[in-house]
Amino acid sequence: MSRLRVQCFAVSIDGYGAGPDQDLQTPLGVRGPELMEWFFHTRVWRRMHGHDDGETGVDNGIAEQGFQGIGAWILGRNMFGPVRGPWPDDSWKGWWGDEPPYHVPVFVLTHHPRPPLRMKGGTEFRFVTEGIHAALEQASAAAGGRDVRVGGGVSTIRQYLRARLIDELHLAVRPVLLGRGEHLWQDIDMHALGYECAKVVPGERATHVMLRRKA
Ligand SMILES: NC(=O)c1ccc[n+]([C@@H]2O[C@H](COP(=O)([O-])OP(=O)(O)OC[C@H]3O[C@@H](n4cnc5c(N)ncnc54)[C@H](OP(=O)(O)O)[C@@H]3O)[C@@H](O)[C@H]2O)c1
Repeated sequence: MSRLRVQCFAVSIDGYGAGPDQDLQTPLGVRGPELMEWFFHTRVWRRMHGHDDGETGVDNGIAEQGFQGIGAWILGRNMFGPVRGPWPDDSWKGWWGDEPPYHVPVFVLTHHPRPPLRMKGGTEFRFVTEGIHAALEQASAAAGGRDVRVGGGVSTIRQYLRARLIDELHLAVRPVLLGRGEHLWQDIDMHALGYECAKVVPGERATHVMLRRKA
């Protein structure tokens, strides 16, 4: 059965999934790159950026798994870009250039309608204004039996957690303190929602924590 998975979501020790004040120059918010430092060295990341090198250890293996068996993605509008409010035009096409790393349909949650955007390599951004349940329904249909991955950002993951819709949540916990930003656990009681820790795997630059919803 198709699962709803969060993979490779980086958090600081103090629970932040993004730094504050995101803009065009700081897609992850101020000091946000410190969260992603575990990923930047992996072969997966390096290949996504056209290089034929990168580390092949635990962090890389887990990053690879995150892309396996995924038939569609769901993103929040802030993960898609820094543009806020009604779309001024169709010029913003995501942070990832002409060929984004998704290669399947990607459903972007937003309150502001916009026509779908077909990119090179099979990624199509489809903008969903009817909320998280509609986005999941559309993504599941598009995934054709494969899993749906919630890419982020923080607010989007929080909504799916509160609705108990996420089956598996992999966090790459980074040994940094952000102090400010978007907090993953704000107003969330994971125990009451019925989640448990299934596995912890030490990686080179992050500790990988696998949470799952209890049956
Ligand atoms: N740590 C990681 O591994 C990781 C991974 C991915 C992203 N990030 C970072 O996370 C940050 C973004 O997270 P975020 O919490 O600010 O935002 P987000 O979850 O990416 O997007 C939030 C926005 O999406 C739209 N939205 C969300 N839920 C909606 C709903 N139910 N109905 C309609 N629209 C909805 C709203 O935009 P509108 O109302 O404006 O349309 C809302 O302001 C970025 O800095 C990004 O780089 C981190």
